[in-house]
Amino acid sequence: MTIRDLFATRFYDAPLGDDALIAELGEACRGLADQDRAGRGWSKEHGYRGYTSYASLNDLPLRDPRFADLVKLLDRHIAAFAKECGFELGKKLKLDSLWVNVLKPGGTHSGHIHPHSIVSGTVYVAVPPGSGALKLEDPRLPLMMAAPSRPGTFVYAEPSEGSVFLWESWLRHEVMPNAARQDRISISFNYR
Ligand SMILES: [Fe+2]
Repeated sequence: MTIRDLFATRFYDAPLGDDALIAELGEACRGLADQDRAGRGWSKEHGYRGYTSYASLNDLPLRDPRFADLVKLLDRHIAAFAKECGFELGKKLKLDSLWVNVLKPGGTHSGHIHPHSIVSGTVYVAVPPGSGALKLEDPRLPLMMAAPSRPGTFVYAEPSEGSVFLWESWLRHEVMPNAARQDRISISFNYR
């Protein structure tokens, strides 16, 4: 008898590889949270506990060389992951969008996917203890109907400072509540 595992879902977890840049990005993100009034207003209006540049700034790598340096490193991580995924690509995946998240204690981000992208991910800049894992959901779950529950339907990936997490953009995920006393700072992005 043979039982094979079919249709595995790949999840990438690696250090960014530049701790000094992570520290500089921490300053950059805090600076944006202080100065980007449009982003602060959007976050407040949409019930986001903290600050996100998601709706207000779409050119961070052009504005600030610290983000440009980050994208150079991310391009390499993305290329490695794309290879592992076995994508048949005519050309390299390119950054489509990149945004900052400063999540206050108690803040969370409910389950979602990133439509119209191929690979999505997050680099973790400040991860105080208890600041919340990334919860990933078995993509077959909406089709399982009468299937009994089993362990592994939800996976909690615990980031460290400097972690790069990558996944295919259709994979549903959720940010668990920040139970730390300090802000959890991350930078998220889409490639296509
Ligand atoms: Fe997301």
